[in-house]
Amino acid sequence: MRTIIQNGTVVTESAVFAADVLVENGVIQAVGKNLDARGAQVIDAAGKYVLPGGVDVHTHMDLQAGAHRAVDDFYTGTVAAACGGTTTIVDHMAFGPKGCSLWHQVEEYHRLADGKAVIDYGFHGVLQHVNGQILREMGELADREGITSFKAYLTYDDRLDDSALFQVLRQAREDGLVIPAHCENDGVVNFLRGWYKSQGLTAPIYHARSRPAGCEAEAVSRLLHLAALAGEAPVYVVHLSSAAALAEVRKARAAGQRHFGVETCTQYLTLTEDAYADPQEGLKAIMSPPLRTGADCEALWGGLADGSIDAVATDHCPFRFAVEKQYGVGDFTACPNGAPGVEERLPVLYSEGVAKGRITLPQLVRLACTGPSLLYGLYPQKGTLQPGADADVVILDPNGTRTLTQTELHSAADYTCYEGMELAGRIDLVLSRGEVIVQDNQFLGRKGAGRYLKRGRSCLAE
Ligand code: URP
Ligand code: ZN
Ligand code: ZN
Repeated sequence: MRTIIQNGTVVTESAVFAADVLVENGVIQAVGKNLDARGAQVIDAAGKYVLPGGVDVHTHMDLQAGAHRAVDDFYTGTVAAACGGTTTIVDHMAFGPKGCSLWHQVEEYHRLADGKAVIDYGFHGVLQHVNGQILREMGELADREGITSFKAYLTYDDRLDDSALFQVLRQAREDGLVIPAHCENDGVVNFLRGWYKSQGLTAPIYHARSRPAGCEAEAVSRLLHLAALAGEAPVYVVHLSSAAALAEVRKARAAGQRHFGVETCTQYLTLTEDAYADPQEGLKAIMSPPLRTGADCEALWGGLADGSIDAVATDHCPFRFAVEKQYGVGDFTACPNGAPGVEERLPVLYSEGVAKGRITLPQLVRLACTGPSLLYGLYPQKGTLQPGADADVVILDPNGTRTLTQTELHSAADYTCYEGMELAGRIDLVLSRGEVIVQDNQFLGRKGAGRYLKRGRSCLAE
């Protein structure tokens, strides 16, 4: 099966140029001018951008979080991803039963995802306690399952303390693995949550007040210092949300620390704590870390533009406003944390970033496609338009427009945090391994067509 995408403007992480893309059997054969189109299905991309498919390395499909379960499974969640131009996800596993082996959640996640996902997918392992067996299993999962990253939480019930984290960092350094970490100071957050509750201050805005930016900055700084102490263990800060934490990142970079990556998410770039003003509507935006101020958003855009931040993901973790989120009425601490966003990422990043001149087209590709692929051992199979790569392609019409609204989205969530946002640009077509899986916002792919990705080593481990 041959397909040629003709007359488009190809965008890579380093250049924008007129070229055709020739695809054979799901793989890119050539990118260039005057390619031999004989026998090929022709896609005309005149006037459009041709980008690599998006790579979202922070999703939580089918996540069991305490009493609640995220409402997108690996089918609905990956349909939503595909319709938003994301053709690869790396999903963060939920915690398993207390004391379980790392293999427990790997088996559970294959049960959840295999036969359901419509795009290619991988898993990050999750660390919930540390002992000799767990440290050994990290290497086993890397070798046998291609799981080369293991998430550590510095807050929540199953967090790692400094000693456990330090042991994990030494092991990661030894085995060439990367440790993505959720960075917030647990002691302060927990105290503040209890204190606000004791004062009867239970509206959604107190979710934000109880998780101040300083808590994130302290934990980011601690993670980076411990990683340095462990001999520059490869680490990755997930969902960076604040100017204060970004300052810690810049400090470490200025000090010469190299083996770390930083991610922010669409919501921290574009939404603010004003979303918490209404006690009902505010529940929709309860996530951790919380939304911050407009000044934080602008600082993060600056971090994308100057290379301080390496990737934009989503932390897609959807609950229904009408059901699960209602547990937070009158008590923000009882509201499940998380929001949908996997479908909105690329369109919002293009519109708010590229169309508004905050980042360039190659920066968009680096942050949403190539960078995440390199960081999580998927390059050059994913996130790039070059011969030999999987033919995961997004064709975006820069002259199209769109108003984001829940009824046109594909997540099982019943709201979007971006309701009513006017977007410049519109995704026309999405290809996964050479097959058109989305056309004009209609999903045309097949349940179970997604393949499990055994990942290689992160660029941070080199
Ligand atoms: O609120 C969030 N982000 N929920 C998902 C779990 C996490 O912390 O990433
Ligand atoms: Zn997190
Ligand atoms: Zn998350």
